[in-house]
Amino acid sequence: MNMQSILLVDDEPAFQRLCGNWLAGLGYLVKVAATAEQVGELVAQNNFDLVLLDLALPPSFTPEEGLALLPGLAPVPVVVMTGHADRELALRAISLGAWDFLPKPLDPDILRVVVERALTKRRLEHELAEWRARALPNDNTMGLTGNSNDLAELRSLVRRIAPTNVPVMITGPSGTGKELVARALHAHGKRAGKPFVAVHCGAIPAELFESELFGHCKGSFTGADRDRNGLIAAADGGTLFLDEVGEMPLPMQVKLLRFLQSGSFFAIGGRSEQRVDVRIVAATNRELSVMIEEKSFRDDLYYRLKGIQIRTSALADRAGDITLIAQSIAARSTPPKRLAVPALEWLVSRTWPGNVRELQHCLQTAAALAGEQTDISVEDLALACGEVPATALTEETGLLEAQVATLEKRLIVTALEDNDHNHTHAARQLGISRVGLLNKMRRHGLR
Ligand SMILES: Nc1ncnc2c1ncn2[C@@H]1O[C@H](COP(=O)(O)OP(=O)(O)O)[C@@H](O)[C@H]1O
Ligand SMILES: [Mg+2]
Repeated sequence: MNMQSILLVDDEPAFQRLCGNWLAGLGYLVKVAATAEQVGELVAQNNFDLVLLDLALPPSFTPEEGLALLPGLAPVPVVVMTGHADRELALRAISLGAWDFLPKPLDPDILRVVVERALTKRRLEHELAEWRARALPNDNTMGLTGNSNDLAELRSLVRRIAPTNVPVMITGPSGTGKELVARALHAHGKRAGKPFVAVHCGAIPAELFESELFGHCKGSFTGADRDRNGLIAAADGGTLFLDEVGEMPLPMQVKLLRFLQSGSFFAIGGRSEQRVDVRIVAATNRELSVMIEEKSFRDDLYYRLKGIQIRTSALADRAGDITLIAQSIAARSTPPKRLAVPALEWLVSRTWPGNVRELQHCLQTAAALAGEQTDISVEDLALACGEVPATALTEETGLLEAQVATLEKRLIVTALEDNDHNHTHAARQLGISRVGLLNKMRRHGLR
């Protein structure tokens, strides 16, 4: 087996020598960095198994800059070193993804066990990744961002069942990626390239449902002035995604079940039976078992649809995904934005009842608020998420002005977003002139 390699980040030559010798004595290969730049260079050139990071190294970097290194070092485990009094800092580091911490001055015995534990985690992760890759070659994320265990399991499940034809039932809270999973199942299965048709069951009026799904023939009811294909026919050869299936009216549930049992159906007013080949994927944020007890969902349909079950979890239960998803959204905004440590911490500390959808919305608005700045600030985030930023309230002077300005900026950003950044339309919505809007945008640093 190759020697395991450790990156030691510390700027004190005496400590570098001492700690370096201890680690070398334990049989590890050690490289040393003293500044954030050196960390970047060494990480780019080497495959480290572990990083030992001293968080307080002025002037090399401040604790904040040390914390900022953490997200970029994943998935390599990081053990942070802090002074005895820095419990707070250690906890912040862990919330940002550090694996463990060591108090300074270091005790060589504790160093040894902590390093061994971290390397064991690293080795197990490697092995797991290898097994996953062997079982399922192709290791892209399929658009499912996140490095939590939940996401890793979700991806491996999607990869395994995508190539099959079994029905899939996706359950989970709203905004957790159920539709994204349905699309990934389609895109990575044998039906990729064929249609993916989503039926948003909650959005179709009950009286139109049958026609929407099965289609109708000319003259079959008032207003049916020509033949029209339904969504099931449109999905032939591909995937039919029944979104929010719990919202489907009971009479429709009976008709859908009949189609699922026979594989064929009649359009409204149609005389010939149509046969299609579709894969069924359903999703719901409701507890279908409760609905079955209440007799608002048919159990026979449930058993037809159930197939393999996939559960998406609430974002708050996988806080580690928050930083990764947030950074990828920020990087994709135009112009690309960054999130510094305080912003990441703020995001991680929230509960996100609307899950990824809410996170996405908050970041897009915050990116717009940040205007020309490269970093999205905590104030931008608080404002975007509808919270009055603390700074607006602690300002000694101009308390009212500051809050009014903040509110004005928020209203302008919202109006711009509502109107696809069309200045004329946004100005009309706000009841001001276009020139007035442009002046205000300039004052708020908005483009
Ligand atoms: N793991 C994830 N990685 C990246 N984007 C995600 C993830 N989960 C959800 N999203 C995004 O969040 C939004 C809501 O997801 P969606 O699939 O519509 O949720 P649901 O159907 O559960 O309400 C979408 O824009 C989706 O692309
Ligand atoms: Mg949805």
